[in-house]
Amino acid sequence: MGRMAITELRAMKERGEKIPMITAYDYPTAKLVEAAGIPLVLVGDSLGMVVLGYESTLPVTMEDMIHHGKAVVRGTERAIVVVDMPFMSYQVSPEKALRNAGRLIKETGATAVKLEGGESVAETVRRIVDAGIPVMGHLGLTPQSVNQLGGYRLQGKTPAALVKLINDAMALERAGAFAIVLETIPAFGAKQVTDKLSVPTIGIGAGPYCDGQVQVLHDFLGLYPDFLPRHARRFVELSGVIHGAVQDYIRQVQDGSFPSAKESFGLEKARKALTPAEDAEVTPYGGQSQRTAGSEQRV
Ligand code: KIV
Repeated sequence: MGRMAITELRAMKERGEKIPMITAYDYPTAKLVEAAGIPLVLVGDSLGMVVLGYESTLPVTMEDMIHHGKAVVRGTERAIVVVDMPFMSYQVSPEKALRNAGRLIKETGATAVKLEGGESVAETVRRIVDAGIPVMGHLGLTPQSVNQLGGYRLQGKTPAALVKLINDAMALERAGAFAIVLETIPAFGAKQVTDKLSVPTIGIGAGPYCDGQVQVLHDFLGLYPDFLPRHARRFVELSGVIHGAVQDYIRQVQDGSFPSAKESFGLEKARKALTPAEDAEVTPYGGQSQRTAGSEQRV
């Protein structure tokens, strides 16, 4: 069937059909989100924090994005995959940006790239789009500028900031961006921008009036038990599920109920070769174990 066309997103906006987008960073989660019906997958540079454990997105490299982008493309057949351009891969010059956007598309097989900024990157967006590469914009809280913004704060609060946001969004649309992420801005501002654009807006912390929504997979799945950004909703609490599963595993390894005959090869033959005393030490069928240290070497 092939991948969904980028042009379909604009058609969804025109039909008033909301666009769900989610991040994925590896093959299994890409497969899972696509199987659930997600049309738009973002390999976000948020992977710097949620996958690689950095404090911000700033250390993320082209190689990181290519490595994870490839895995997500391999895990999807139908979804549009957008790969983030990492910090300093597009800010130096439009030429360098074009080369790096080309690398992301050629080496990952993704459909589009995303980069942060408004009027100041419009020429860069134009150059990349002219080369045939679809570009998604990103305005509002732009995490690659966290040091300049003074933290992960609400943006676009004042009338002047809203005017700038609208001008930035329109500059991106004129430059050929196919969609624009609006991050952490008041819902009123996001509605103004959304109403003025023909291309879809995809919100995160930007209220319900955007044409679509994007969430970071690890927030959404509850993989961070200690922190949840205000704009995120945990649709499931996987950290608790994983914690419980690992505790069950530890217990079953220690009491000898894992692995059982079902998960072993030639266990009956091995048991026949044991002395009755040795056999009594291990109960591989899930019973109470008398297992002693060193018994794992025998089986
Ligand atoms: O990197 C990312 O995950 C993003 C989303 C927050 C939009 O840019």
